Amino acid sequence: MDVFDMKQRSILVGTVLVASALTIFGILMLRQPTLNSPGLSTSGNREHNSNSSLPTLSRQEQHESGVTHVLVTGGAGYIGSHAALRLLNDSHRVTILDNLSRGNIGAVKVLEKLFPKPGRLQFIYADLGDPRAVNKIFAENAFDAVIHFAAVAYVGESTLDPLRYYHNITSNTLVVLEAMASHGVKRLIYSSTCATYGEPKKMPITEDTPQLPINPYGKAKKMAEDIIRDFSKNSDMAVVILRYFNVIGSDPEGRLGEAPRPELREHGRISGACFDAASGITTGLKVRGTDYNTPDGTCIRDYIDVNDLIDAHVKALANAESRQVKTYNVGTGRGKSVKEFVEACKIATGADIKVKYLDRRPGDYAEVYSDPSKIRQELNWTAQYTDLQESLKIAWRWRKSHTNGYGPPTDEH
Ligand SMILES: NC(=O)c1ccc[n+]([C@@H]2O[C@H](COP(=O)([O-])OP(=O)(O)OC[C@H]3O[C@@H](n4cnc5c(N)ncnc54)[C@H](O)[C@@H]3O)[C@@H](O)[C@H]2O)c1
Repeated sequence: MDVFDMKQRSILVGTVLVASALTIFGILMLRQPTLNSPGLSTSGNREHNSNSSLPTLSRQEQHESGVTHVLVTGGAGYIGSHAALRLLNDSHRVTILDNLSRGNIGAVKVLEKLFPKPGRLQFIYADLGDPRAVNKIFAENAFDAVIHFAAVAYVGESTLDPLRYYHNITSNTLVVLEAMASHGVKRLIYSSTCATYGEPKKMPITEDTPQLPINPYGKAKKMAEDIIRDFSKNSDMAVVILRYFNVIGSDPEGRLGEAPRPELREHGRISGACFDAASGITTGLKVRGTDYNTPDGTCIRDYIDVNDLIDAHVKALANAESRQVKTYNVGTGRGKSVKEFVEACKIATGADIKVKYLDRRPGDYAEVYSDPSKIRQELNWTAQYTDLQESLKIAWRWRKSHTNGYGPPTDEH
């Protein structure tokens, strides 16, 4: 062997050694828990083998046969927390991803208390607007399905701050979808809304009613739906898009409830506004718009109990099929006017709620109610729990015993 050969050989050996070292380093980096990422934290159940210098795969990082590991985005929020509770009750494994911009860590704590066993529930504080963080979370967790609830979700606010809605809803859905595609997660349940239909001329609304949204919230959700549908044309993902109508109620056992931030009150939903009036936080209820083309002049909506809505998600998860995008309305098929709602709320709370009638709110539409026959026929789903007065009674019970939401109690009556 001459000097030239020896030189070449030592270069080769050196290259192999460096390459091996880099590969081992890469593997170690990939295995680092999310906890180490800046701006990210997790709680729950990472398990490490203390006898080995390499961390073992935690339960979240491995698929487990017969158990669906569901990523619940927005799981600290109203609907997402109820969904997480149900999935955990059904023996699924749940990872909640939430930036707590609107949700409550208190709701996550309730769930953690109910399901303390390692490997069942994991909370990850992260923002879906950060693709690197999201990608890392998908790399570190073996998700079987995603239920994408996380969103800003107030029609009025969307008319004032539309870009926030397009970012948070449309662009973040793209981030979720890309992460799912890169990491081979093949089941998606997407939270959409009847606001994507706008103000259709014909009632009830079927899934074939043209989608002509009239506010940025509805438009952002419709765009997200379009992105999902376009992507699915060349993918084997199983997708179910659920278009919810107006969600009310809470867990009948009083473990969870709806607790939006006080600063969101002015954009808030009608049940929260009724409860605020009933508990004396506000002097009365403001009803916006009495000159709509409806029997009593106030808006008509299709109210659906959150427990029925979650049932629809569980059925969607079980019936999602590869290479298909199924779309369903989730409502009762019956509309109730704002005046009827207020009367039901008065009975449910036992309070004489004062009502002030104001001009219409921009971006609102007169009458919206669903035709839920497709979901009944295909998923065998019907609304079982929804009863305006009863649903409000249950939600009021939680609200009365949680005067400060998930925070420490206040003197509110
Ligand atoms: N509540 C309704 O009546 C209704 C009706 C139709 C559709 N929806 C849809 O249902 C879903 C859930 O609504 P909700 O009423 O539970 O709202 P919510 O505000 O209670 O919950 C939304 C959750 O998403 C989180 N979130 C928002 N942006 C995020 C981000 N960038 N990264 C991570 N987390 C983020 C919030 O912190 C919050 O916990 C939304 O997609 C909404 O559009 C709700």
